[in-house]
Amino acid sequence: MAIRPGGRLKWGVFELCGINILGTGAYLPEIRVDNNMLADLVDTSDEWITTRTGMKQRHMVNGETTWYMGAMASKRAIEDAGIDASEIGLIVDATITSDFYTPSAACVIQREIGAFNAAAFDLNAACTGFVYSLDTAKRFLQTDPNLKYVLVVANEMLSGITDFTDRSSCILFGDGAGAVIIERSEKLYGSWLGANGNLAHALYAKLALNSHPFKSGEPVSIKNSETEFTESPAKLVQHGKDVYKFATNALPTASLNACKSAGIDISEIDVFIPHQANIRIIETASKNLNIPIEKFILNLQNVGNTSGASIPLAFDKFVKNGHIKRGQKCCLVGFGAGSTLGAIVLEY
Ligand code: ACO
Repeated sequence: MAIRPGGRLKWGVFELCGINILGTGAYLPEIRVDNNMLADLVDTSDEWITTRTGMKQRHMVNGETTWYMGAMASKRAIEDAGIDASEIGLIVDATITSDFYTPSAACVIQREIGAFNAAAFDLNAACTGFVYSLDTAKRFLQTDPNLKYVLVVANEMLSGITDFTDRSSCILFGDGAGAVIIERSEKLYGSWLGANGNLAHALYAKLALNSHPFKSGEPVSIKNSETEFTESPAKLVQHGKDVYKFATNALPTASLNACKSAGIDISEIDVFIPHQANIRIIETASKNLNIPIEKFILNLQNVGNTSGASIPLAFDKFVKNGHIKRGQKCCLVGFGAGSTLGAIVLEY
């Protein structure tokens, strides 16, 4: 068996397995919704949104679907990586807004990009989805010597589940997609993933399922005062303060644990690519970690919160504009509904 970059196989697992990000891609829909446009819709203002969130505009679809945005970002990542789609052995798609209950968005993207030698599945970890997916992909690379390239894509159409009558949440969200092509390497890598289901009710959107015709008698009651998901289906419900408290703690916790896993001190990180939820969450984490804010990449002013797509969107932008350079130590850190949290430390 030929051993590819990534080191020696021991007990069927590659030792010292990290990843090399070969190429990146992104897609943003053309409609730009600025704060004033939202102020025409709900009782808010540019000043309130800017000071409370840091956001100035977000992109929203104009006919594009979630799979389409993912396919466009994927095609760009494949081109950037200089590989052929037929060489991709696995597609992991992070999304909470797939166009279908089934098939997976990953399978539809596979068809669109012609990656017919790939296994494909979706992964739901909300705003931590890209971090969970990238770490999952790395573990596939670590244990399958026949796997050469993996496409990790995150695509979200949050405008499709946003409640545009709720001023405390509709100001946050936008649409978009980001993707990376990765291969096995011996570069630095560490990761840490977590979840706290006790906060599952703090941010959710219910599926709109139909009822079956065979119900009888009293319905089974599954009420639980702490975890009841009371509000309307198919719209995002957010208890902003609970999410805020969770997020300000999650960002440092996940980053520190991922650094520990990589065997480095957090001060050695050159660039943080945090989930773009709110400038105040990032500023608080920077202060608590004693890390200069300049080390944190900010893209939320342009695209809002795009859930799982926010980290690969920011990564693609700041790689392409030269801010993130080869050899730098990066910390990709996510937190979101679930509540999920996680971080990856890697050398770009
Ligand atoms: N415009 C004007 N006033 C508003 C708006 C608005 N858009 N939204 C809320 N307000 C009002 C409230 O009604 C409230 O008024 P009141 O005091 O008269 O009742 C006041 O502003 C303060 O409301 P808060 O909810 O306390 O506002 P807060 O400062 O907490 O900001 C926000 C709200 C921005 C949602 C904040 O809680 C937050 O960022 N939470 C975390 C959100 C987040 O990160 N979500 C995503 C993470 S997970 C994921 O990405 C899916």
